[in-house]
Amino acid sequence: MRVFHDIEPLRQHLESERKNRRVVFVPTMGALHKGHGACVATARSVSEALVVASIFVNPTQFAPGEDLAKYPRTLDSDTEHLRRWHCDVLFAPAVEVMYPEPQHAWVEVEKLDDPLDGRFRPGHFRGVATVVAKLFQIVRPDVAVFGQKDAQQALIVRAMVRQLAFDVELRLARTVREDDGLAVSSRNLYLSANQRVQAAALFKALEAARRSLESGERNPRMVETGALDTLRGAGINRVDYAEMRNADDLSALVAVKGRVILALAAHVGTTRLIDNMVFDVRDDGVHADVMLY
Ligand code: PAJ
Repeated sequence: MRVFHDIEPLRQHLESERKNRRVVFVPTMGALHKGHGACVATARSVSEALVVASIFVNPTQFAPGEDLAKYPRTLDSDTEHLRRWHCDVLFAPAVEVMYPEPQHAWVEVEKLDDPLDGRFRPGHFRGVATVVAKLFQIVRPDVAVFGQKDAQQALIVRAMVRQLAFDVELRLARTVREDDGLAVSSRNLYLSANQRVQAAALFKALEAARRSLESGERNPRMVETGALDTLRGAGINRVDYAEMRNADDLSALVAVKGRVILALAAHVGTTRLIDNMVFDVRDDGVHADVMLY
């Protein structure tokens, strides 16, 4: 695996490689785990792929007071993971490489960044869209892979690509979960043993919603209430949201029909966790845990 910390040498390397291979890109913030591994595997499955991963803890997507300073930085073990996953190229720039001067140029995806995490993390998606746009300009991927775990991010990146005519094909990796259903996340490292047990309630809440839809419930507020009850029952009292929305544009729902998402954000101790499940609700039944795109 070739490792680059600067933009120009990376660009030169990719320029010669892209003549006979497709550049397939997996952006990450490091602290790699098997969720990232699934994204790399999805990238690897593209034929003739040159798999490029980036590791960059992007300061502009952390709101003031968030965990930027304590976000885990584990470049050595991350490099080992990427080698084992047969990644071809790693781009791991320093902050000064990505932001050599104060940033005044931003990419903002309106509407999709209003609800859910957009309401609780001001500026977060502007930071994400901007750094993804910048990484796309540097890597110029043919294909880029994101995880369904961050569904709102995946929709925002799709809108950016479509509306700003980025020449990149997007693919999604399914959410990787621990045995008890907890979505794998770098932030799970912050959980104590007791909190780790509590955290499984997020997946239980999604499962409760699935059962409720499968038994015919079509009032989104009732499904949301069921999910909230599950969280509260596990002692999780600080819930930012448990909301069902349209899975294509995140618009609000009056009735559950078609492709919908239940998105959760809750605090377990001082750790904020998010999760979601996408459903396709049709007259002939409910397809649970489907891909967003
Ligand atoms: P990060 O949180 O490191 O995630 C990198 C990619 O891994 C994202 O596309 C995310 O959705 C995916 N991912 C994380 N956990 C996953 C899981 N359990 N199953 C499947 N995929 C998972 O998301 C970011 O970084 C940043 O916002 C980034 C896009 C790199 C921009 O800075």
